[in-house]
Amino acid sequence: MRKLLFLGMVLPFVGIACVTAVDPCADVTCDQGESCVEGECVADDPCADIVCTTGFSCVDGACVADDPCEGVTCDEGESCVDGACVADDPCEGVTCDEGESCVDGECVADMTGGDAEVGAAFYATNCSACHADDASGNIGPNIQGFTAAELQTGVEGAGIHGSITIEAGDYADLEAFLATLL
Ligand code: HEC
Repeated sequence: MRKLLFLGMVLPFVGIACVTAVDPCADVTCDQGESCVEGECVADDPCADIVCTTGFSCVDGACVADDPCEGVTCDEGESCVDGACVADDPCEGVTCDEGESCVDGECVADMTGGDAEVGAAFYATNCSACHADDASGNIGPNIQGFTAAELQTGVEGAGIHGSITIEAGDYADLEAFLATLL
C-alpha cells in the first residue's frame, strides 16, 4: 500500500521531465555584448560594430540616410518630400476651362461668382418646364435654394436630365439665380 502511494506521487514528475524541451543555449557561453539565441551567439545590438559615414545612421545593422531627401535633386518648382520629388503647387501648369478652377491639381466647377441673370435665362430654357418657374417643383422636385454643388449632384444623378447640355460654370449661374427666388 505504501509503495503504491509513493509511485503515484513520483510518476507525474517523471512524465513532466520527459517532455521538457532541451534548451539549445544551455551549454553556450557568449562573449560580452552577445546573447545566445537558439544556440547561436548574436550581438545584442546589430549596430554595435557598424560605423556609418556622416549623414547616415545604423538601423537594424544597415546604414541608412538620416534624411531621405539627402542627395535628391528636384526640378525647379518641385521639392523633395520623403525622398520623392513632388510639385510645389499641384495646380502649376494646369489650365482649366472657363468657369472652372484648379483645386489640388484638378479642374472643378467654380461654385461661386455665378451670374443670376445668365442663370435665369438658362433656367427658363432648360429647367423651368419640370421644376416650375419658381423652382418649387412640378414634374421634378423643389430645388429652391440649391447650391451649385447640390445642383450638379442632382442633375448628374437623375437620368431624366440626360438631354440637357450643362457646363460646369452653369451651376454657379443657376445657384445665383435660385438664390434670388428665396
Ligand atoms: C424633363 C424634366 C426635367 C428637366 C427639364 C429638368 N429636371 Fe431636374 N429633375 C427632374 C426629375 C423628374 C427629377 C427627380 C429625379 C429623381 O428623383 O430620380 C429631377 C431632379 C433634379 C434634382 C435633384 C433634386 C433633389 O431633391 O435631389 C436637381 C438638383 C435638378 N433636377 C435640377 C435640374 C436643373 C438645374 C435643371 C435644368 C438645367 C433640371 N433639373 C431640368 C426633371 C427635370
